[in-house]
Amino acid sequence: MLRITDPEAMRDAIRRLAVRGAPAIGIAAAFGTVLGVRSSPATTEAAFLEHLDNSCQRMASARPTAVNPSWALERLKARAQTLSGRGVPAMKAAVHAEALAILDEDRAICRRLGEIGADLIRDGQTVLTHCNTGALATGEHGTALAAVFEAHSRSKRVSVYATETRPLLQGARLTTWELLQAGIDVTLICDGMAAQVMKEGRVHAVLVGADRIAANGDTANKIGTYGLALLAREHGLPFYVVAPRSTFDLSLASGAEIPIEERPPEEVTCVGGQRIAPHGIKVYAPAFDVTPARYITGIVTERGLITPVTAETVRRTLGEG
Ligand code: MRU
Repeated sequence: MLRITDPEAMRDAIRRLAVRGAPAIGIAAAFGTVLGVRSSPATTEAAFLEHLDNSCQRMASARPTAVNPSWALERLKARAQTLSGRGVPAMKAAVHAEALAILDEDRAICRRLGEIGADLIRDGQTVLTHCNTGALATGEHGTALAAVFEAHSRSKRVSVYATETRPLLQGARLTTWELLQAGIDVTLICDGMAAQVMKEGRVHAVLVGADRIAANGDTANKIGTYGLALLAREHGLPFYVVAPRSTFDLSLASGAEIPIEERPPEEVTCVGGQRIAPHGIKVYAPAFDVTPARYITGIVTERGLITPVTAETVRRTLGEG
């Protein structure tokens, strides 16, 4: 268990992926900010709001690709601002209450994602998933994995191929563990095995999560996702993204504008602290890639299934704009 009592420790936990997954880092960033402002020495509301804004900026910069932290932090700021005239203690309490609300809402939203997503999985089907999208990546239940958990709890026979997810092995370490705990049939494969597994007809659909979805449906997710979408298209398999409204960034027209986080070279050259590549080797380590909307069969949100995926259907299903 990780006990965090100060904002820098929370930022560090997000940065080094002790807490990871888009919804989970949104929630963590919110509580990190609560830790940052609860002992704020500000005596005026203006000074408090400035402190809050600085704390939010620092927390949001921990990881750039997922939009959920910025979304959550904007909510904290908006909530504090509504209490203008009620004093600093009231603003502090409101920021804390908003963080708790974000956590509670995420739990309910993930449950809903699971319900809608489970309808896409038929009895006896096998799903391929990438990275980790279960309870360890969210407030509870998960996103893409919530659909699998829900299908299983509806007594559908569902099996999963989990990619190991190089370089940090979220699939091998976390997804397999969560599925085994739930009693769901899971097979681990190296990332490079996905094409062969699809070609052998072992998979019926691909389900993944997301870190940021642009207004046109282009989707940033863990590095390797784009390749899986291309493979799914080639093999005639549906490719679904499962993500809450908080993962959409409607301010970005397309995925070309999504910032892609680069990770330290050691995450590629070392596995479990053991060096596996020559010293001095050049490394490029983008942590995410962007799948163009045209390769995505549908996006499951708590507001419904977006399909086909276009700027128009995104707007219409989210009920915004
Ligand atoms: O680098 P990570 O482990 O934070 O990346 C996580 C992912 O890419 C997940 O697929 C995504 O956040 C969806 S979480 C439900």
